Amino acid sequence: MDEERAQAAPADYDTNPERFRVGSECPRKYGKGDVHESVAERIVREGLQPVLDVGCGEGRLCRLLQDQGIQVVGLDNSATMLSAVPGSRVLGDASSLPFRTGWFGAVAALYVLYHLSEPEKALSESCRVLRAGGLFVAAAPSRHNDPELAEVMPTRPSTFDAEDAPDLVARFFANVEVEAWDAPMIHLPDVEAVAEYLFGRGMDAGECQEAARRLGAPLTVTKRGCLVWGYKSGQQPHFQPPQA
Ligand SMILES: C[S@@+](CC[C@H](N)C(=O)[O-])C[C@H]1O[C@@H](n2cnc3c(N)ncnc32)[C@H](O)[C@@H]1O
Repeated sequence: MDEERAQAAPADYDTNPERFRVGSECPRKYGKGDVHESVAERIVREGLQPVLDVGCGEGRLCRLLQDQGIQVVGLDNSATMLSAVPGSRVLGDASSLPFRTGWFGAVAALYVLYHLSEPEKALSESCRVLRAGGLFVAAAPSRHNDPELAEVMPTRPSTFDAEDAPDLVARFFANVEVEAWDAPMIHLPDVEAVAEYLFGRGMDAGECQEAARRLGAPLTVTKRGCLVWGYKSGQQPHFQPPQA
């Protein structure tokens, strides 16, 4: 059977911001799997600033860092998302960062690179704006995330799945470390909660109730994904577009 071609995940942040909010709230409400606190903790521990949060959404990481007195800039290409971000925020594109070379001590790109058709461009730009020795971190869901939902919501390979993320990051950064997870992390107690979770994962609102009834409840969902960390070495790698 042919492997399905990897595609950039569609972005609905300006058209359906409620979907993002529900999707972000579900791990906190029904279990665990939120990476923001551990990412903020490591950046604070390593004393790296200023921080650039690429694809910052509504600024969850920005807030956690600001609370610890760390200077942070949130960048996003959705004006709707950005309007909720506290402090420094910039409307911009991850593939063409409007910042000086070597300016940041850390760059985070959490659950954003799978929206890009060429994540290499954003990785190259993240590397450029970091100073030598600076820390980069990306979060990526697995191609086999949420397997319990597959019957009603099959996953498609994206351009930055957990399966490919470490190799992609290693093309631009040194000392790459991977923190992977594969565990039953979300516990949905009833059909309403299953429907809410499906909506947060991107299912059309009108289809969620019926799909939730098919899946049944209670339902435990397995989360699979990874954080990939790397450091900028002294030399700047250059992004080479693939040859046609
Ligand atoms: C799944 S959300 C993640 C938000 C945040 N990083 C978090 O972990 O909560 C993805 C975010 O990336 C933003 N985004 C998508 N494509 C982008 C691009 N090309 N440049 C900058 N931001 C982008 C979206 O607007 C959205 O806010």
